[in-house]
Amino acid sequence: MYDFLNDPRFAGIEKFKSKVWLSSPTMHGDDQRWVDEAIQTNWVSTVGANINEVEKQMAEYLGCKYAVGLSCGTASLHLTTKLAGEKLYGQAKPNAGTLAGHRVFCSDVTFDASINPVAYEDGEAVFIDTERETWNMSPEALEKAFQLYPEVKLIVVAHLYGTPGKISEIREIAERHGALIVEDAAESLGATYKGVQTGLFGDYGCISFNGNNVVSNSRFLIHRGVTTDLRHGCNEIAA
Ligand SMILES: Cc1ncc(COP(=O)(O)O)c(C=O)c1O
Repeated sequence: MYDFLNDPRFAGIEKFKSKVWLSSPTMHGDDQRWVDEAIQTNWVSTVGANINEVEKQMAEYLGCKYAVGLSCGTASLHLTTKLAGEKLYGQAKPNAGTLAGHRVFCSDVTFDASINPVAYEDGEAVFIDTERETWNMSPEALEKAFQLYPEVKLIVVAHLYGTPGKISEIREIAERHGALIVEDAAESLGATYKGVQTGLFGDYGCISFNGNNVVSNSRFLIHRGVTTDLRHGCNEIAA
């Protein structure tokens, strides 16, 4: 492994005395009881009363029709990207993804789980620059990208570190160009933009309960990713 401590470029920088954990799992209140109950009642599964309840509460909290619990935020991004691809371009051909042969505009500063599904679905990510105020996708850069690639019909946009990007401006551009949005709100559950919860601006919205995101249920009791939807996807997911 590279010996950073003896690299002259870092001379004078001292090592932390103790480790600063990004997000260590903790148990509070009734957490242990819920874990025990799920195991005792044999509902460590993809379905069950706890998952139904989380889906219901999330939909109520966010103010959308449905929420669907999946294994993680990454899975919800893959599902929604696939659904968007099918909606736009029809069912995928055998051995090909739903985005085969198509470009997709994507946030250039984000966690890779936002973008990987574009590759899984055989699309080509075109990265859109970030703007200074929110560190998220620049509406101006997006508009320029549509001048270069007017045929693009899908945007994958993330809100980082709990700070919403300029998502209603991005929504307006998307509508003008007839494009769908997958909104990666994995890190921004509870954050609002112009009074609206993030996750509700996209045609498909994704949030995460990973311990290093805003709110965590960790991995034991429920499935972490919740897909929410404002317009198209949810009826299809819930069916
Ligand atoms: C912006 C962003 N998108 C997606 C994800 C993926 O979520 P998960 O870890 O639940 O798969 C993360 C996870 O940290 C994230 O920060």
